[in-house]
Amino acid sequence: MFEKSVYVRRRAGLLERLRKSGARGIVLFVGNVEAPAQYKDNCYKWRQDSSWLYFFGLDDPRYAAVLDIDSGEETLFADDVEIGDIIWMGPQPSVRSKAERAGIAESAPYGALDAVVAAAVGRGVHFLPPSRYYNTMKLRELVPGGTPSEVLTKAVIDMRLIKEDVEIAAIDEACALGYEMHSVARDSIRLGIVEQEIVGKMEGVTLSKGWGVSFPTILTQHGETLHNHLHDKVIEPGRLMVIDAGAESNLHYASDFTRTYPTSGRFTTRQREVYQIVCDCNELAFSLTRPGITYREVHLATARKMLEGLSALGLVHGDLDEMVALGIAGLFQPHGLGHNMGLDVHDMEDLGEDWVGYDPDQQRARQLGLGSLRMARRLRPGHVVTDEPGIYFIPALIEQWKADGTGRGFVDFDRLTTYYDFGGIRLEDDVLVTPDGARRLGPHRLPIQPDDVEAAMAR
Ligand code: GLY
Ligand code: MN
Repeated sequence: MFEKSVYVRRRAGLLERLRKSGARGIVLFVGNVEAPAQYKDNCYKWRQDSSWLYFFGLDDPRYAAVLDIDSGEETLFADDVEIGDIIWMGPQPSVRSKAERAGIAESAPYGALDAVVAAAVGRGVHFLPPSRYYNTMKLRELVPGGTPSEVLTKAVIDMRLIKEDVEIAAIDEACALGYEMHSVARDSIRLGIVEQEIVGKMEGVTLSKGWGVSFPTILTQHGETLHNHLHDKVIEPGRLMVIDAGAESNLHYASDFTRTYPTSGRFTTRQREVYQIVCDCNELAFSLTRPGITYREVHLATARKMLEGLSALGLVHGDLDEMVALGIAGLFQPHGLGHNMGLDVHDMEDLGEDWVGYDPDQQRARQLGLGSLRMARRLRPGHVVTDEPGIYFIPALIEQWKADGTGRGFVDFDRLTTYYDFGGIRLEDDVLVTPDGARRLGPHRLPIQPDDVEAAMAR
């Protein structure tokens, strides 16, 4: 965890914000508990709740805390291990010492939480939307009829959206691991092996130096399936392989990179044409990213660039601005340009995607593509976002548009049928918004221009 002062300052800042907005009573934080995969003693890999990590840093199961908005008093709730636990787990630091580590004055047994919360119900109990079922049940038990607090949730989002220097260093570290993962993966591509072999080698990098992957790896020759987690195919010549993967560091900060490789080491002419469009969109997005612009505007600028490239290939025709307004780019990129990233790879989406990704004066669109934009906000220094345009040829989607007339007059559906076996391309970097522009995170940038990709594969 970070220095104690980081957590003390964050909690004080949170209470200050809540007081300013007129909130009274207590803030209740419930950390995660172990989650059995099959039976009680065989659990899923332990992962603490991210907002808990942000305010307390304590990476242990079955902790809770109450912060009193009115008095500023803070209490940590957890149980010390007993001899029955010590036999299986070994001696553990005391709850008292954990409280000290997080800068909290008071501690009490976990079971004391019920009475403390019950006594505060009349004053107001503020809690975040839970991300796990156990916590949903626990909160129902603790605060019958209670609902997550909007004022608390928005205050936490405001704080976590702007990354502090220690967080930026932690994300850079996760990006260094992500860079190494992707380099190993690229260098492992061989015709005739099964995709899973590359996944194993790549994930081994983050398992040996960090916590693991920041989300289930996407590594596939069927990149047109956006979140394809199957890795069972033999690598064939002439295909495109999308590798979308990231590391989670030991401090639990994420990275998230995507590159697309020609399985034979060289792009075909057709692959290179489409690849270059995606690459240009990625570069354009980065060049526009700076304080003051909205990420929605950046998304739309890349949509226009994409349509310009697709128009040169004869796949769409018409006025670019009209096509952008109609959402024609959504046929090729049915997802948004990017998302926030931090302690979660899609940062804080458990707290509400629209509250996290949209300013109060912004409305989420309903169009395919733009409607999936998870980060639309006006950019500020300290935002960390992904820049991940893609072009995919999804036969079922193209057929649906053709059948219901969407895009008629703009999309060349006949020509598109020749792309049904193409797959997809996505290219993703992680970007920090700085006071005067933006910086790509990580120590180096993964090769992205097609010549550089081929050169790296040849090496
Ligand atoms: N990298 C996976 C995603 O952004 O959804
Ligand atoms: Mn991503």
